[in-house]
Amino acid sequence: MSALPPGPPYVPVAWHQGRVRLLDQTRLPEESFTLDLATVEEVADAISTMRVRGAPAIGVTAAYGLALAASLAPAGGVHAAIEAAASTLSATRPTAVNLRWALDRVRTAVAGVPDARAAATALEAALAIHEAQREADRAAATAGAALLPPGSVVLTHCNTGPLATAGLGSALGVVIEAYRQGLVRHVLADETRPRLQGARLTAWELQQHGVPFDVIADGAAASLILGSRVTVAIVGADRVAANGDTANKVGTLGVALAAHAAGIPFYVAAPISTFDPSTPSGDAIPIEERDPAEVLEAGGVRIAAPGASALNPAFDVTPARLVTAFVTEAGVFRPPFGPAIARALRGEPAP
Ligand code: MRU
Repeated sequence: MSALPPGPPYVPVAWHQGRVRLLDQTRLPEESFTLDLATVEEVADAISTMRVRGAPAIGVTAAYGLALAASLAPAGGVHAAIEAAASTLSATRPTAVNLRWALDRVRTAVAGVPDARAAATALEAALAIHEAQREADRAAATAGAALLPPGSVVLTHCNTGPLATAGLGSALGVVIEAYRQGLVRHVLADETRPRLQGARLTAWELQQHGVPFDVIADGAAASLILGSRVTVAIVGADRVAANGDTANKVGTLGVALAAHAAGIPFYVAAPISTFDPSTPSGDAIPIEERDPAEVLEAGGVRIAAPGASALNPAFDVTPARLVTAFVTEAGVFRPPFGPAIARALRGEPAP
């Protein structure tokens, strides 16, 4: 088997000439539009409006946002600027824990560093977070591909590719690597209402990587799984609690229940930075409620009956008992998850 490829043929997130560079995910797949963000407010807005999205990619972007704040601060004001920016950025999205994890990493790196050195240290820390994400994705892709038998038909939900991690991707990184190894026959990508990350972004990324797929309506997943048309389900995560309960894009729980009923594996691929030791179980995970207009409209056009209201929880929580295994850069965790997660968070590899 040849070495893993260096990365995707596009750059989702980067530090570029003193700015935070993003491939605008709201304009894909119609156009590849690059944003160069010059202020912390622009970075915060890009995260809130999902120009960048996906838990690890949000974390990398937020880290660069702190580096940007530090680079713009007046002499003697770098630490204060970093703290103010961390507070602005942490308020953008509540569920993905990588956001706060990355902000804390940069804040810890600059703690005690003289103000005159703090901007350079913040940038070094942000670049290191990004590089660590790329390495984590590579390791997880290798570990995850080893779980898939030849001829696999994989169902996935939301978007978990390079766009979502700023590396190789989490669940989609596994799928792309397994396809490269000849193990994946076909992919079914849930369209992922209401923001359609599957139809817009996963479809685009699978095309970029030459992987054969069909987009399916979210409501088709259960019957295709129970009808033996799927051999494995694999998704990403926005936050994994200490007991293995997993928050991911709304609709994930239905896939997990169907996989359990059909007796096929349901894998969650996520970097260790997505595991949150301070959240004991799923009921403590805050679930982002987004604008009801996302449900009532499609592509900016009203589709619901006039006067109809909507609920729009952006994530759901899959209980740990429905997860067959977690795929991480520290290896594959199987139940009981609590001890495996605790070991990984202490920096020890899976046994
Ligand atoms: O609201 P989003 O699009 O940021 O949600 C993203 C997801 O739920 C992804 O599946 C998750 O972050 C895993 S990304 C590697």
